[in-house]
Amino acid sequence: MLAYRFDDPNSLDALRAREEPAGEPQRGEVLVRVRAVSLNYRDIALILGRYVWDAVPGLIPCSDAAGEIVAVGEGVTAFKPGDRVISVFHPRWFGGRPPKGVAMQTYGNGVDGWLTEYKVVSQEAVVPLTDEISFEEGATLPCAATTAWTALSGSAPIRAGSTVLTLGTGGVSIFAVQLAKAVGATVISTTSSAAKAARLRDLGADEVVNYTEIEAWGRHVRKAVTGGVGVDCVVEVGGPATIGESLRAVRPGGEVVLIGFLTEANPGIDYFLLKGSNAVVRSIGVGDRAALEDLVRAWRGAELKPVIDKVFDFDDAAPAFAHLQAARHVGKVVIRVGR
Ligand SMILES: NC(=O)c1ccc[n+]([C@@H]2O[C@H](COP(=O)([O-])OP(=O)(O)OC[C@H]3O[C@@H](n4cnc5c(N)ncnc54)[C@H](OP(=O)(O)O)[C@@H]3O)[C@@H](O)[C@H]2O)c1
Repeated sequence: MLAYRFDDPNSLDALRAREEPAGEPQRGEVLVRVRAVSLNYRDIALILGRYVWDAVPGLIPCSDAAGEIVAVGEGVTAFKPGDRVISVFHPRWFGGRPPKGVAMQTYGNGVDGWLTEYKVVSQEAVVPLTDEISFEEGATLPCAATTAWTALSGSAPIRAGSTVLTLGTGGVSIFAVQLAKAVGATVISTTSSAAKAARLRDLGADEVVNYTEIEAWGRHVRKAVTGGVGVDCVVEVGGPATIGESLRAVRPGGEVVLIGFLTEANPGIDYFLLKGSNAVVRSIGVGDRAALEDLVRAWRGAELKPVIDKVFDFDDAAPAFAHLQAARHVGKVVIRVGR
């Protein structure tokens, strides 16, 4: 089978595919023929040295995949050959508190990932994919969509009448727009261009703010867009350079969900702004297996479709990474796997 690895762990140009043994499923394991992989910002952040956790160099990249079971090991009861599945982002976090060491058990930074034609995993590390969701669509759900789900369904879940602020048009943010609209929330989104603003409106965003034109977009959202009230939830993917404006946009008692670190400038957090917001600040790490299962059920129930910007062939994995890095995409970038 062919599997990709970065020859140089610090260079996005060093992605190469090589023949490797496919492996055989042992007791409790399944062999998955991978059919599609989706990219997340973390897949480039790991190589650019911008990830939050340590990384083992030289691993097969990518956390998110869809495929079909082609063989099962002894004692496997959950799946049989021919079943369609998607990967779970945290293969050992089933629910409740994250297990010790969870950070180094994730694909692409602690263990080999999914940009490979075949992969052996525990039967607990995949969940069923129903027939109406394609492999390309299914591969978008394990990280970005589950993260958006976890962000919107915390202790104060988003519901009809809530107001959600999303930042940018990447994978997590677009899923947050879709999930928030599905329950009848009002969505305010920021973006960098008129073309992306039009896409956001097509997807249901009620208000769009161009952050390249309105630098104080958080204050603007609070004062001009919500009439001084503030939003109930900020899906915070920007990180160090956007957290200040996010704190200005949220209402007292609302939530700022810390997710990402897309911005490089790190001016620090103003304690009095943080304290004065009277908001809940919740940092999340994607979510557990139960969250992915809930998401898949909700996704089917609401008849949503993932927004896929572009699908690349397996031979074009390196251009797919470059496409994500260029940040001109809206939604998800997918690689179709197999020859
Ligand atoms: N903690 C977690 O559980 C978790 C899970 C998933 C992802 N993440 C993190 O969340 C972030 C988003 O991930 P993703 O995969 O959705 O990313 P992505 O698809 O690569 O998002 C890229 C988009 O973000 C916007 N953006 C880029 N730089 C920006 C900046 N400086 N200021 C504001 N917006 C900017 C741009 O959209 P516009 O041009 O429209 O602004 C860009 O197209 C990443 O940092 C990722 O590592 C964390």
